[in-house]
Amino acid sequence: MNTILLKTDDEDLKKAAGIIQEGGLVAFPTETVYGLGVNALLTDGAPKVYAAKGRPSDNPLIIHLANPEDAEKYCYTTPTYYRIAKLFMPGPVTYILKKKPCIPACVTGELDTVAVRIPRDPTAHRLIELAGVPIAAPSANLSGRPSTTTADHCIEDLFGKIEAIIDGPDAEIGLESTILAETGTPGEIKMLRPGGVTVEMLESAGFSVSLDKAITEKLADNERPLAPGMKYRHYAPNAQVCLLDGSFADTAAYMLAHANDDGTDIICFEEDSDLSGLPNVHVLGSFSDKETQAHKLFALLRSFDDMPNVKKVYARLPDKSGIGLAIFNRLLKASGYTVLKV
Ligand code: TXA
Ligand code: MG
Repeated sequence: MNTILLKTDDEDLKKAAGIIQEGGLVAFPTETVYGLGVNALLTDGAPKVYAAKGRPSDNPLIIHLANPEDAEKYCYTTPTYYRIAKLFMPGPVTYILKKKPCIPACVTGELDTVAVRIPRDPTAHRLIELAGVPIAAPSANLSGRPSTTTADHCIEDLFGKIEAIIDGPDAEIGLESTILAETGTPGEIKMLRPGGVTVEMLESAGFSVSLDKAITEKLADNERPLAPGMKYRHYAPNAQVCLLDGSFADTAAYMLAHANDDGTDIICFEEDSDLSGLPNVHVLGSFSDKETQAHKLFALLRSFDDMPNVKKVYARLPDKSGIGLAIFNRLLKASGYTVLKV
């Protein structure tokens, strides 16, 4: 397929919106990661997305809207949805609601609920507005690879497979949105996937937050995560990632002892000053600067696939507070839940 590259000006976004309206696929920037968009109202839209990504078709897609109130047309909204919307939308949060019949079953993986997100990235917002339809979009990566956070990574994964790619800026946050669902109890909210809207932010807004087990633990074969996509081995580079769990000093000693192992790379923080400077060591940022870590993580994980000699990657566990929970969750999945106590 001939893929066109578009810019973020209105003229090009009108072209992109036209492609969406006609049922084509467009990769576009958002503040979390790049999305691979299709008109959510078409029954043959989602299957094209699954085919381009090489993704199992039971994994439901998020629909992207321009404004929180637009959800009225596609799902049954609730007071809690509007509370969250007032606090965090537009932004890096996705909310699960009961769907209306106009959303085809192929978009929601046959579920009777639909995931709704209102991106704050200006290009994403303008594209949705111009398209005038909800845009169903998973992350714009080949299935199994880390989500794309730059236009170049989209081109790498999807050029030749879709109608257009918008050559926009790098994603501001760098990790996918927080997914929330209601528990049935007022004031309570369940987190299905951690992201830029954090447990702490929700708690300080007065919510009590419960975490789906799939965020921090490997589920048994007979267990199902609430967000079906959380069961896949996402974010994994070809090299085996191994997380190191121990005191700061013990982890530093372990990494230093293995820094010269053949085919071994290391992900650590600026505070690991004995390691920084070595050629096979990748510094994610300062231990406390989680925004920078989030911003850099997926590009780093993807880069290991360009280094076929790297067979093993040791990574120091990040701090789990704030967006650190999302960084921890993605690293855990990248490692296939391989955690070594040191
Ligand atoms: O930041 C993001 O959320 C990005 C950008 C493009 O918006 N999108 C994204 O989409 O990460 P995707 O398809 O890679 O992940 C969507 C997640 C999957 O884990 C899926 O199972 C879950 O959302 N999901 C979608 N619809 C759902 C539903 N009705 N109930 C529960 N989980 C749902
Ligand atoms: Mg994804």
